Amino acid sequence: MKVTIPFLVAQRLVLRTFSRAEAPALQQLAGQREIADTMISLPYPYPNGEAERMIEQFTDDFRAGRATPFAIVLREANQLIGATTLRDIDREHAQAELSLWITPSCWRQGYGTEAAGTMVRFGFEQLRLNRIYACHLTRNPASGRVLEKAGFQREGLLRQRVRKWGVFEDVALLSVLRQEWTARRGGIKTAAGAGSGDK
Ligand SMILES: CC(C)(COP(=O)(O)OP(=O)(O)OC[C@H]1O[C@@H](n2cnc3c(N)ncnc32)[C@H](O)[C@@H]1OP(=O)(O)O)[C@@H](O)C(=O)NCCC(=O)NCCS
Repeated sequence: MKVTIPFLVAQRLVLRTFSRAEAPALQQLAGQREIADTMISLPYPYPNGEAERMIEQFTDDFRAGRATPFAIVLREANQLIGATTLRDIDREHAQAELSLWITPSCWRQGYGTEAAGTMVRFGFEQLRLNRIYACHLTRNPASGRVLEKAGFQREGLLRQRVRKWGVFEDVALLSVLRQEWTARRGGIKTAAGAGSGDK
């Protein structure tokens, strides 16, 4: 079945579907220890064949309405720098979980903030969600800051929610509600737009 997978255009980024040809690049980026270190679930070492499997899965998830996985790509250089998704899409309660990572060589340049803001906009405007939530290890302030800048508020602390590298760690839970995002929008310069690409 033909399904339309959107692409989202932000100021310096495009969020679009992964192509099968990007499997080696995805494996190389997602396989970095610095990324796995603070992701709640990302295999490390990243197994051979996992990127191909994930790219297939991404398309299936999009088609089934389970998740909206996007490659994060620098617009001008057309360079893959990360990935993001709204996953566990729950139609009954109009909510989903945001997840993202950026390759370390591109950290602290505002790309995480730009990608998160673009996904939040997509979630509220196009998926018609009411609540978007996200989790991060409490020792990962960068993620907390990205989410805060995208309008998320802290809901609570999940004590020893995950076992990372054999150690139980606390996780912060944050969310942003449609009504908050709508109220904030007037004051935010929104650079993101949306187009579509057939898959
Ligand atoms: C979290 C992550 C996406 C942030 O991406 P990024 O592109 O570096 O984020 P930005 O450049 O938009 O920075 C956003 C804010 O975080 C701050 N920040 C970035 N790295 C930080 C760090 N190590 N410690 C504290 N603050 C940090 C920035 O200063 C910025 O805040 P400011 O605008 O007030 O100065 C990136 O670090 C990453 O992919 N980490 C590995 C995977 C991961 O942890 N993903 C999140 C899982 S929930």
